[in-house]
Amino acid sequence: MNYLLGIDIGTSGTKTILCDTQGRIAAEAVAEYPVYSPKPGWSEQEPEDWWAGVQQSVRAALARAGVNGADVIGIGLSGQMHGSVFLDKDGRVIRRALLWNDQRTSRECAEITERAGGLSKLLKMVANPAFTGFTAPKILWLRNNEKRNFDRVRQVLLPKDYIRYRLTGVYATEVSDASGTLLLDVARRAWSKKLLTRLDLDPAILPPVFESQEVTGTVTAAAAKALGLREGVPVAGGGGDQAMGAVGNGIVKKGVASAMMGTSGVIFAYTDAMQTEPRGRVHTFCHAVPGVWHMMSCMLSAGGMLQWYRNALCPEDSYDQIAAAAAKAPAGSEGLYCLPYLTGERTPHADPYARGCFIGLTPRHDQAMMSRAVIEGITYGMRDSLDIMRGLGVEASEIRLSGGGAKSAFWQQLQADIYGVDTCVTNSTAGSAYGAMIMGGVGAGVWNSVPEACDACITIASRTKKNPKAVKEYNKFYQPFGSLYQSLKKNFQEIAAAYGWL
Ligand code: XUL
Repeated sequence: MNYLLGIDIGTSGTKTILCDTQGRIAAEAVAEYPVYSPKPGWSEQEPEDWWAGVQQSVRAALARAGVNGADVIGIGLSGQMHGSVFLDKDGRVIRRALLWNDQRTSRECAEITERAGGLSKLLKMVANPAFTGFTAPKILWLRNNEKRNFDRVRQVLLPKDYIRYRLTGVYATEVSDASGTLLLDVARRAWSKKLLTRLDLDPAILPPVFESQEVTGTVTAAAAKALGLREGVPVAGGGGDQAMGAVGNGIVKKGVASAMMGTSGVIFAYTDAMQTEPRGRVHTFCHAVPGVWHMMSCMLSAGGMLQWYRNALCPEDSYDQIAAAAAKAPAGSEGLYCLPYLTGERTPHADPYARGCFIGLTPRHDQAMMSRAVIEGITYGMRDSLDIMRGLGVEASEIRLSGGGAKSAFWQQLQADIYGVDTCVTNSTAGSAYGAMIMGGVGAGVWNSVPEACDACITIASRTKKNPKAVKEYNKFYQPFGSLYQSLKKNFQEIAAAYGWL
């Protein structure tokens, strides 16, 4: 029997799934590793830890399923986006990688916008504004702050592409993840020579860009030995973890979008033509399907906000208990609003100094209403970005839910009512690793295309209809949410200045 591997290089660990060629999961395994934060706002990882995590989780998945590694015929990769692995002339890692949630680069973001000739010119070149977590600002940070390290850099890779290099010996990337570097001409699906010139960066430090389903190389003898696989197995491009999560949920056709809540919260919408938001409030990236794109938002604290709330205010309760209490509180939480900007915000506000708040407390507010306000606040934050996309004409007539927001019937209904769209949950629960497995299968010729693979493997498990009365009510309650951030923006800056964080 033949098998496929999907490997996701996550932030908390690497998840590997082993599937048969009908997409049925035979085994899953996770290997964890640490995140280092040597200074406030810094976030780094050791690329060698990812490689150890890949070896451990691949071997564990094979052992759990009792499958011989020689039966694996295709591999797909997924990974945390925007990270930077700096390699020297011998392909050796120069320093720890800077991660997607690293906030050290505000100066470099301003430098990039200036060198590009302003935001609208930058949007024309790479379709997105400079966000602190993106890759290009990290390269400039290295040049501005660690010149000796910068001078040794011969190649910059994204996290999953470093694993590709360890697996195949090849430097390569693919369009979905490359879109988040801020160096890809997203419209042309190729590196932006124009921006690279303006930033005075040598294009040779970037790997060749493939379409996500293309085979980028094959497993070397050394990697085969390390992982217990056969030499020569094809490794497909794969994708950034959000694109892979979307493929794993079947977001590969017009009208279908997803709302994924992990630590961060992401709305992901398929678009068959490339479109940019004039102020860059949501991302425009290449999809992992040739010739199409997607729009994407990334709230930095969605599940992360709920996790903080539980740990800080109701540590005895499970998430199920919190959702059950929230379900009994009135819609709109009697005027209590929660702003979920616990770790600053990326989309739509691009504000590292935004903070979490409860606004509207009265003596009547109990824990159940506070729980509901937290869950409503996170969902309003997701709607902010969904509305921006809908305002651009992006169709979202069905929203597929995944992560924390898909786990309780209460939150499934709340999302349908706040988004004003019927929601559903698919049979696919393995997230980005599942999308990676699909790419591995397309690369190996098991399926002819990504949409064909999704049709074969993914079905709708349950549907939740919006409740028209609740939709009307939430349209009213949602209105003050956005203006609260606008009113507080200046105060967040003042707080940051007072504490010396600016
Ligand atoms: C997406 C993003 C995160 C990371 C980490 O833009 O920054 O989702 O990919 O998972």
